[in-house]
Amino acid sequence: MELKQTINPENVPQHVAIIMDGNGRWAKQQGEDRLFGHHEGVNSVREIVEACGEIGVKYLTLYAFSTENWNRPKEEVDGLMELLVNTISMETPNLHKKGVKLEVIGDLASLPGTCQQELEESMAVTKDNTRVTLVLALSYSSKWEITESVKQIAAKVVSGAIKINDINPRLIEEHLKTNRYPDPELMIRTSGEHRISNFLLWQLAYAEFYFTDVLWPDFRKEDFYKAILSYQNRERRFGKTSEQITQS
Ligand code: IPE
Ligand code: IPE
Ligand code: MG
Repeated sequence: MELKQTINPENVPQHVAIIMDGNGRWAKQQGEDRLFGHHEGVNSVREIVEACGEIGVKYLTLYAFSTENWNRPKEEVDGLMELLVNTISMETPNLHKKGVKLEVIGDLASLPGTCQQELEESMAVTKDNTRVTLVLALSYSSKWEITESVKQIAAKVVSGAIKINDINPRLIEEHLKTNRYPDPELMIRTSGEHRISNFLLWQLAYAEFYFTDVLWPDFRKEDFYKAILSYQNRERRFGKTSEQITQS
């Protein structure tokens, strides 16, 4: 039986977040430049977005460029920005056809003007699509996002719009860039690294983590389905006992 057929449709995560890692190492293995790995990684993105549509994952957040990635060599950063512009422009018709809505979280203002424009256009074209929401984390880091939200909340306290005692987890969530999405139930990281690298620190509080040695440019639908199946075999207890979960 095909792996996909063994997925329980009743228990598919609504939101999957992925740290797409290992492009550089993949390219090195092929004796190629790091940028070649990033280019190849686009094929994996296309496959996984499609897989989400097929099994009913409603939100897919991809960590595409972190705040810390600005510290990479200029040549790589420039190459990544160019790849971003070209990919968004090439892929938008395909995304639109497949019912994918594109959204972005991150410090958009820090991206080159051409990237901002291309993203704005793609988001406008796909805004009414409902099959899958593809969220690109670009120039994103969780500490940046949380800091921004603290500033906004503090400003509201100072202006008298809210009181200190109005601050609770829900209010904090409303000020995060992800306020339109449910928290991810599953977080996948490729390339054998076991760390979170400043990604969705708040939102992943109760996510299941899935790590694989597969490098991102090799990550295909079957690898994604394996992660979904692993998720489906876990018991999410949220602090309760196993007995409480199985009895309810
Ligand atoms: C992930 O692959 C892509 C980005 C961070 C933009 P890497 O470029 O981090 O690849 P490795 O980890 O060096 O192999
Ligand atoms: C995390 O990958 C960021 C993205 C995938 C965009 P990195 O490769 O930058 O993470 P570290 O530096 O190895 O933790
Ligand atoms: Mg990496």
